[in-house]
Amino acid sequence: MQTAVSPRLIVALDTPTLSQALHLVEQLLPLGVIFKVGYEAYYAFGPALLNEIEACGAELFLDLKLHDIPRTAAAAMRAIMRPGLGIVTVHAMGGFEMMRAVVEAAEIVAQERSLRVPAIFGVTILTSIAEITLPELGFMGGIGENVVRLAALARNAGCAGVVCSAHESADLKAFFGHDFQALCPGIRPAGAAGGDQQRIATPTSAIGAGADYLVVGRPITQASDPFAAAQAILTEMRSLVPG
Ligand code: C5P
Repeated sequence: MQTAVSPRLIVALDTPTLSQALHLVEQLLPLGVIFKVGYEAYYAFGPALLNEIEACGAELFLDLKLHDIPRTAAAAMRAIMRPGLGIVTVHAMGGFEMMRAVVEAAEIVAQERSLRVPAIFGVTILTSIAEITLPELGFMGGIGENVVRLAALARNAGCAGVVCSAHESADLKAFFGHDFQALCPGIRPAGAAGGDQQRIATPTSAIGAGADYLVVGRPITQASDPFAAAQAILTEMRSLVPG
């Protein structure tokens, strides 16, 4: 399975303290990974961490999963724009109008402030959700068809791709082509604990399914040697991608 670009490793900086997050940034910076800041770090010490990541010249992914009425979501997008910002997430369940408003806000602010336009990714069905729980959330059908339906909305709204598990990545590429990107959390090296994740995949199977970005948190951040853990995943990824 081809990918649009060489797959990239994203490390989720889900830590309770700023010093732990900064230590991980310092350790992992030489590996050229993208740093993902989500709810845990953003709400607790966001600005300080973002400033440091930017000062290092690393690429920043704000996993804030925006989900509100279009005006509010677009206002949030305008507020979070900053120089190092490469990726932002919105919940595809927020609907076409909301995603479109966020994409437009990013484009307008980028032009006004001469910033890069961040890639907006629509979150489809969280990787912590198993198919068996879909009915209680009001979804009809299986995970695969719901991911593709939400991905179609995201694509029409101008998103660069979607967040999904590697299990849906191959179908997504078959439906929408290689340029529509798959950003896949729930990645677990063989033998690693799944934790609260349900739809997990190894780096090898995710790359095989065409994933463009692999998101890894705990298997790296809670490893006794985070650098070695990240390096092992990168080595596994690179062994599968020609060139
Ligand atoms: O520790 P772990 O590898 O499970 O971390 C996965 C990261 O990806 C977490 O920060 C989580 O919030 C995020 N994420 C996810 N599933 C999604 C979207 C984001 O696990 N669908």
